[in-house]
Amino acid sequence: MRVTAPARLRGKLDIPGDKSITHRALMLNAAAEGEARIDGFLDAADTRSTLECMRALGAEIEQVAEDALVVRGRGRAGLHEASDVLDCGNSGTTIRLLSGLLAGFPFLSVLTGDGSLRGRPMGRIVQPLRALGARMSARADGTLPPLVIEGGTIAGGQRIETPVASAQVKSAILLAGLAAEGATTVAEPSRSRDHSERMLAAMGAHVAVEDATVTLTPPAGDLQAIDVRVPGDISTAAVWIVAATLHPDADVLLTGVGLNPTRAGVLDALREMGADIEELESRTVGGEPVADLRVRSATLRGVRIEGEVIPRAIDELPLLALAGTVAEGETVIADAAELRVKESDRVATTAAALRALGAEVEERADGLAIGGSARLRGGRVEAAGDHRLAMLGAAGALIAEGDSQIEGADAVGVSYPAFWSDLERLGSA
Ligand code: S3P
Repeated sequence: MRVTAPARLRGKLDIPGDKSITHRALMLNAAAEGEARIDGFLDAADTRSTLECMRALGAEIEQVAEDALVVRGRGRAGLHEASDVLDCGNSGTTIRLLSGLLAGFPFLSVLTGDGSLRGRPMGRIVQPLRALGARMSARADGTLPPLVIEGGTIAGGQRIETPVASAQVKSAILLAGLAAEGATTVAEPSRSRDHSERMLAAMGAHVAVEDATVTLTPPAGDLQAIDVRVPGDISTAAVWIVAATLHPDADVLLTGVGLNPTRAGVLDALREMGADIEELESRTVGGEPVADLRVRSATLRGVRIEGEVIPRAIDELPLLALAGTVAEGETVIADAAELRVKESDRVATTAAALRALGAEVEERADGLAIGGSARLRGGRVEAAGDHRLAMLGAAGALIAEGDSQIEGADAVGVSYPAFWSDLERLGSA
């Protein structure tokens, strides 16, 4: 895709549904008792992977409108062994959460995905799920997909400490805990996104949270299905928030953005840098805080981004690095080694993308150091098969001098199929 910076960025966008919440609404309602409507679901490749896996496991899921699904759950007994391998595509959330859920079902499941997913670390779920009693194995000595789950009896009363803050790992353990008799506790080094906890509690599980430790006690019977209205995805909104902040003539309204504090680290970091982000019409949607965001051009200063904000901004760190390129002074992103095991090695691919646009970036083991005050110029950015890199390249191109080319632009379909048409809209208003 060829992108030329527009003179102005203007207009209003309805932000598509949250990817993390859509995955959870599908999986949990499919394993619950009763009928649930999911409004504003994200219709993208990753969430389609979850939808098809749940259908293959026996769930009845019907699309009743362009942005609405109905899931008819028959409790845990309604799910059965799939007749084929479960294809999780590019989706880490699908393979990890589903592994946790299936660990407690008495049948065989085999989960795999595309080339990127088959290179992503699974030891982080295999080890704790085995510790809970699951019988499972994986390629490369239990570390890479495909994963084979033979089900098993999940022992209650266990406490698992995870070495990294990861909502996928935490959620896998909690979903396995649904099959346990008694409570399951997960302790993380710092808090990751809590959408699973919120939804499980709303469906009848008992969930106790203390700092970064979560204890789940399953309900006596099945989870009860709940209707979910999915808020807009802050990870998607972040592309426009950063582009509008950096563009010299921007005034953009993003409606319906989910602002769950365990997700909104990108706003905290940008505000510390000097961004002008106004929250309007604050409300609660589907048990999550939501607002419309008005974002205008701003001049930024460099900051250090590290510690507890990292898991709360994990998918937005490449965009924060882009903000760092034009901020005054150096920006450092640290404690973010997790970036290396995302859909691509995002330390390396972000550095390469920003350098292609003329920025000065140093790769570090656990993050990036970004020289500020760059004048970005058009260049060729490789998406490296990673949706967030394709969007990072586009956001950079929106403020660069001259034309840019994004290679592998189709990758956006993983989380934001309307991305390129929305870009066109904001740039031509
Ligand atoms: C997600 C958790 C994060 C995030 C991913 C979605 C989730 O991954 O990067 O895009 O829905 O739970 P980790 O849990 O591996 O940090």
